[in-house]
Amino acid sequence: MTAHEPYYRGDLALVHDLGFGFHADRCAPGILALLEPVRQRRGLVLELGCGTGLLTRHLVDAGHRVLATDASPAMLARARQAVPGAEEIRQLVLPDDPLPRADAIVSVGHVLNYLDDLAAVRRALAAVAGALEPGGVLVIDLCDLSYGEARRDSPEVARVTDDWAVISRMSIPQPDRCVRQITTFVRSPDGCWRRDDERHDNVLVDTAQVPALLADHGLEVVVGTAFGSEELPVGLVTVVGVAHIR
Ligand SMILES: C[S@@+](CC[C@H](N)C(=O)[O-])C[C@H]1O[C@@H](n2cnc3c(N)ncnc32)[C@H](O)[C@@H]1O
Repeated sequence: MTAHEPYYRGDLALVHDLGFGFHADRCAPGILALLEPVRQRRGLVLELGCGTGLLTRHLVDAGHRVLATDASPAMLARARQAVPGAEEIRQLVLPDDPLPRADAIVSVGHVLNYLDDLAAVRRALAAVAGALEPGGVLVIDLCDLSYGEARRDSPEVARVTDDWAVISRMSIPQPDRCVRQITTFVRSPDGCWRRDDERHDNVLVDTAQVPALLADHGLEVVVGTAFGSEELPVGLVTVVGVAHIR
């Protein structure tokens, strides 16, 4: 059950789209290389937590068939504008919405860490494994417990442009919890500034346990530090693998 306010309302969706494409851009070359066999067989790629389509557009531009999904209506509205070439862009809320079958499942931006607790992350991972066709490929990133350890005393971070500004304060209230208080200011057409505040609660995961968990569901994965040659933030790991041919 979700007790929090919806994540990524309109203004944060705008700011994410305009200012936070660097992660998807950085990950895209490595992900595209991992997905090349799927592209060659015209397989369907299911993207979870696609946001505004920042990775989706790389996938579609490379010739993939993509079903892109996210929980946030504001993010999805932007993704539909940005990536008209996707097969479909639809709302899918993890961990309980049914997942369509796919030849690959991809996700960047620690989407599973947005779930309520470890049980929900486990449920989502089991659903992911169940949705992959035999021989299907999993490519996701996930925040490990070490993500929190590395940021225990992080200072607040601010970015300011002519039309928007964002301030983010991080706290680690428990070893397996990371909270971001995010304040956005967006300039409206009349020149006034509009403020919004979101609190993002992330659950951090002992990712060393993920391979055994997924093996129980027929998926062989490796936890790593990058999809390809990109450098990821400390504590953000990659989970890459293939579904057993049953
Ligand atoms: C940090 S953003 C990453 C967005 C995008 N993948 C990117 O890299 O730009 C996390 C995304 O996860 C989505 N999300 C959060 N909780 C979710 C849930 N329960 N089910 C599906 N998506 C969720 C958010 O709406 C948001 O788009």
